[in-house]
Amino acid sequence: MNIEKEIRNVKEDARGYFEGVFGSHDWDHVERVYKLALHIGEKEGADLEVLKLAAYLHDIGRPEQAKTKGKVCHAEHGAKLAKEILARNGFDQAMIDRVSKCIEAHRLSVRREHKSLESKVLFDADTIDSLGAIGLGRLFSFAGSIGAKVHNKDVDVTVNHEYTTEDTPYWYFMNRGKDAPKRMFTKEGRRIAQARYEFMGKFFKRINAEVDGAK
Ligand SMILES: [Fe+2]
Ligand SMILES: [Fe+2]
Repeated sequence: MNIEKEIRNVKEDARGYFEGVFGSHDWDHVERVYKLALHIGEKEGADLEVLKLAAYLHDIGRPEQAKTKGKVCHAEHGAKLAKEILARNGFDQAMIDRVSKCIEAHRLSVRREHKSLESKVLFDADTIDSLGAIGLGRLFSFAGSIGAKVHNKDVDVTVNHEYTTEDTPYWYFMNRGKDAPKRMFTKEGRRIAQARYEFMGKFFKRINAEVDGAK
């Protein structure tokens, strides 16, 4: 088996799920997560073949989650789809299990057990792409796509506002993003997440001040 060729084939299969998908969870996100996962994975001594496959396939369940407005979990659904794609491309059961388990556990908002280093690295890489300047861009793009407000500094951050008008970047940051650096599994992931988190904190401090009339 020419593994690099098979990985390329899986990449093309995965890309097919992103045609017409809106900006915040598009194929560009997948490419960024891929790069971050390899960067962290190399430092951690992870299995890069598992990581490459998991990164390419991790969000293929997204269109279904969007269509059902969150009723279908894209991590669970994506893991099922990934199993079929990997089997079709000739990967053995051991590899199929390793990759699909990473996909199943990658969501920040659903706490699942991470059974391997590769699962932890994918989680860190995917979470990091929701932080920093790119994270802000993605959050505003997502809010726009579901018709949420631009900002509400007085939102109840303890309540789940997913897919409502209160599903704003600020709510997401205060409800989910806030703990992200602490939830990183790898040292390099924590370093990057912390830097990006601090940048977002400054941004939201400023936006809150502007809502209060800062000139
Ligand atoms: Fe995801
Ligand atoms: Fe993702």
